[in-house]
Amino acid sequence: MKEHPADQSLIIVSNRGPAQFEIDAYGERTLTRGGGGLVTALSGLVANRDALWIASAMTPEDVAVTEESGYQPIDLEINDVSYRVLMVESDADAYDRFYNVIANPILWFIQHYLWDLSNAPDIRMAEIEAWYEGYEVVNSDIAEVVIEQIEGREKPLVMLHDYHLYTAPEKIREARPDALLYHFVHIPWTQPDAWRVLPTRIRDAIYNGMLANDIIGFHTTPYCTNFLACCQRLMGYEVDFEKSTVDHPGGRTRVRAYPLPIDSDRLKRAAESPEVATAEEEVLGRRREHMILRVDRADLSKNVLRGFTAFDTFLTGHPEFREKVTFIAHLQPSRQDVPEYAEYLERIEALVAVVNHRHGTTDWMPIDLRVYEDFPEAVARYKHFDLLMVNAIFDGMNLVAKEAPAINLRDGVVMLSENTGSHEELKDHVLTVNPFDIQDQADAIYRALTMSPEERRRRANGLREVIVSRTPDDWIEAQLDDIDSVRDLRARANHDKRG
Ligand code: G6P
Repeated sequence: MKEHPADQSLIIVSNRGPAQFEIDAYGERTLTRGGGGLVTALSGLVANRDALWIASAMTPEDVAVTEESGYQPIDLEINDVSYRVLMVESDADAYDRFYNVIANPILWFIQHYLWDLSNAPDIRMAEIEAWYEGYEVVNSDIAEVVIEQIEGREKPLVMLHDYHLYTAPEKIREARPDALLYHFVHIPWTQPDAWRVLPTRIRDAIYNGMLANDIIGFHTTPYCTNFLACCQRLMGYEVDFEKSTVDHPGGRTRVRAYPLPIDSDRLKRAAESPEVATAEEEVLGRRREHMILRVDRADLSKNVLRGFTAFDTFLTGHPEFREKVTFIAHLQPSRQDVPEYAEYLERIEALVAVVNHRHGTTDWMPIDLRVYEDFPEAVARYKHFDLLMVNAIFDGMNLVAKEAPAINLRDGVVMLSENTGSHEELKDHVLTVNPFDIQDQADAIYRALTMSPEERRRRANGLREVIVSRTPDDWIEAQLDDIDSVRDLRARANHDKRG
């Protein structure tokens, strides 16, 4: 690993930390790994590095642990990775508005084009207050802790993550003009008009908050271009699309793409574990001739309903596949306090019942829906799918599209939405689908299940080659290299000023 000035003392900041404390049915304290792409990405980042991970205390038990530790960092070990974590407690009502009103759904929906604009969102007093008394409060709480932790450090590097923390950078910058601030956004950045649902003052706070960073990272170049267009069109700032920079009253911000790879070695080790072997027995015992698989958080952006409708269409058009194929949908419940998410899960369950009733027989259930989180079970299924369905409406990267084929043993085919970040890298080896075109997805199912072994092998090899070609270390190195260049530029500018 190359040495970087800041490498030894990274401060990373995100809403969700690597794990969550809870109390189980027996009253015992439990520790569960956080779900979603961000935790996967940052776990690769902290492995083998001295990093402090500052995150929100998300559960009452997180709050209890934070209080017991005297508001100091604690050491955790999860799935063989060690973490030093400092959890930040916010007022419970402020946190609820931050998470359940502003971050999810408002920002998440804007950044995945999910709003049905003739119906929603309505921005009323409740939403405005949720911004000032929720989002801004939690961002200030986190910024304050960051400022405390970097006190006494010269030119510290702070790496912030995601859409929960858009205004924290400006608050940190005010206290520490010398800090190097870097922000990575794990979700898409949408085009300027998508942001117009927000009142101007909130929009301005988001963009000015983000532009306090020296560098902003995204998964793909189109997200960078959208961000630059927003700075130009919504904020009137000077943008250089070629150099990918924004000039604003606070200085210059660089915007860069760093597509996130997976840690395929770690995943391969997990795939060999006894827990996965146990789960595999069940998977193999129950499999039919073909297994279609999807593994997602139960999120509206993942397009679960259209995926099941496509399967329904496929079964209607190809009755010869009846009893020969099972669609296993492994969905992790997510954000259930947000009404849109709770309702989505209900609609998913209702549709599964309809499709199973329409096509099922006494001993065959076409869709096997599993709504829970179980990592070994998901990994066991990764190893044995024939077709992986990833049909997201929009998705920042989608790591399942990289993880599952990396360890699949059956030359499984991947159906991949053209609106996922991972499509940019994987497109030559997948069956590309339009996420709104249900017929296209039904046809892709047929094509995958009737594909020749030679073509399956060629595609699966191609996928594996791309997926293992970069590691999380390459990802972080590319970011640290750019951070080093900004540090050098700043040093030169200060030197010239003094000279
Ligand atoms: C995505 C987002 C993350 C988020 C994760 C899980 O990966 O980019 O920021 O943490 O989903 O969502 P949750 O609301 O459970 O943290």
